[in-house]
Amino acid sequence: MSAITSLTRMWLTRAVRPFTFKNEYDQNLPFAECDNLGLYVHIPFCKSICNFCPYCKVLYSQEKCNRYIDALLREIHMVGSQYHGKKKVTSLYFGGGTPALAANRIKEIIGALNKYFIITEGVGLELHPDNVTVDVLRTLKDAGVTKISIGIQSFREKHQSILGRKKIDADAMMSALAAVPFETVSMDFIFALPGQTYEDLKADIDEAFSLGANHVAIYPFIDFTFTESPVSAMPKKEKRELLDAITQYCLGKGYVRDSIWTFSSVAGAKYSSMTRDNFLGFGCSATTLLKEQFKVNTFDIDSYCARIAEGKLPTSLTIRFTKRQRMVYWLFWTAYSTKVNAADFKKFFGVPLKSMYGFELWLAGRLGFVKEQNGVYEMTLKGAFYYHYYEDFYTLSYIDKMWGIMRKEAFPQRIEL
Ligand SMILES: C[S@@+](CC[C@H](N)C(=O)[O-])C[C@H]1O[C@@H](n2cnc3c(N)ncnc32)[C@H](O)[C@@H]1O
Ligand code: SF4
Repeated sequence: MSAITSLTRMWLTRAVRPFTFKNEYDQNLPFAECDNLGLYVHIPFCKSICNFCPYCKVLYSQEKCNRYIDALLREIHMVGSQYHGKKKVTSLYFGGGTPALAANRIKEIIGALNKYFIITEGVGLELHPDNVTVDVLRTLKDAGVTKISIGIQSFREKHQSILGRKKIDADAMMSALAAVPFETVSMDFIFALPGQTYEDLKADIDEAFSLGANHVAIYPFIDFTFTESPVSAMPKKEKRELLDAITQYCLGKGYVRDSIWTFSSVAGAKYSSMTRDNFLGFGCSATTLLKEQFKVNTFDIDSYCARIAEGKLPTSLTIRFTKRQRMVYWLFWTAYSTKVNAADFKKFFGVPLKSMYGFELWLAGRLGFVKEQNGVYEMTLKGAFYYHYYEDFYTLSYIDKMWGIMRKEAFPQRIEL
């Protein structure tokens, strides 16, 4: 598996050199030069821990959460104050964990960010179904949240029990969503679960839109090596049939596919923290992507707070990209939106996409993965499946390895991927 990702990496970066992350960092982050910059804030607390989940999170305690947010505010001031004036950014996303558990402090966090940044495309935040109450939604809306994403996983009881999640009170959720409207109401589902059929998935999506969602994210189940989930991933052929069928269903209903995994029922409903050219991440495990570097904060909450108390950034690892590595990174995450615009590539790197990856684009066209129109390369259904498929490899070879180490060591010396 890692042989496939290593060979692809060597081919596309035209070098044998692996992606090397080192235990070093810049205290001053060069984000002033970045356009199309997004913001991300990680809140790592949950009321109960799901055994399939790879994210950086711990059990919620009010005291720990408050201490963490005090440190988070200091990190925001440390980074934000490096810029003179206010920097324009696209969006702000709160992920976790379950950021809605800190609903009463979200206003303070957005206020701190507003001192240094002008957010132009709204604020998104993740909730567990238990948090979808009128009180919490009002608090979030009052704080400035414009988009919410609810982790449903499945409305089917058999799949909730496979994932160890409790039954969802759909009526209560519907009335809370009707009482407090948001620009985007997204619901997360996991597909390719054991025994899951097209009918199951279709019923989940229909239920989401009927309860008040205007956007859905359908993530393939990933069996991370360091999680203790008893669920194993669905075989490739079955998974492809399911993905193709559900994609056709959503497109047939007139929903817009705005990324590999997401569909919206109305224009303008969007929820994605991934497709940004650059982003600044705050909080433990948060990542920052700039023109020439990518950095990861420590996953350990106590070490995070301790570093901040010393007046230092909580960065654990940094990779300084070669030009080709940055191009591959850009292409991989831009392709996630299902479209790559050659003009955007030229604007970002100053060279034509065709001059750097002409052969690969030709090959992708011949294999039926992409179609080109006026310099925009759009993924076909087949291309989207193979992207999905490759992303599984990428996740298991790169993210699984890195997160597996970062969960155990607050500041590892070096990681090569
Ligand atoms: C941070 S959680 C969402 C908010 C909240 N904590 C919750 O669980 O309801 C982010 C999402 O990642 C997805 N996810 C978690 N573990 C996954 C896995 N092993 N494979 C695929 N998707 C996963 C789930 O759909 C989940 O809703
Ligand atoms: S899926 Fe959500 S609730 Fe479950 S452990 Fe992960 S972040 Fe927490």
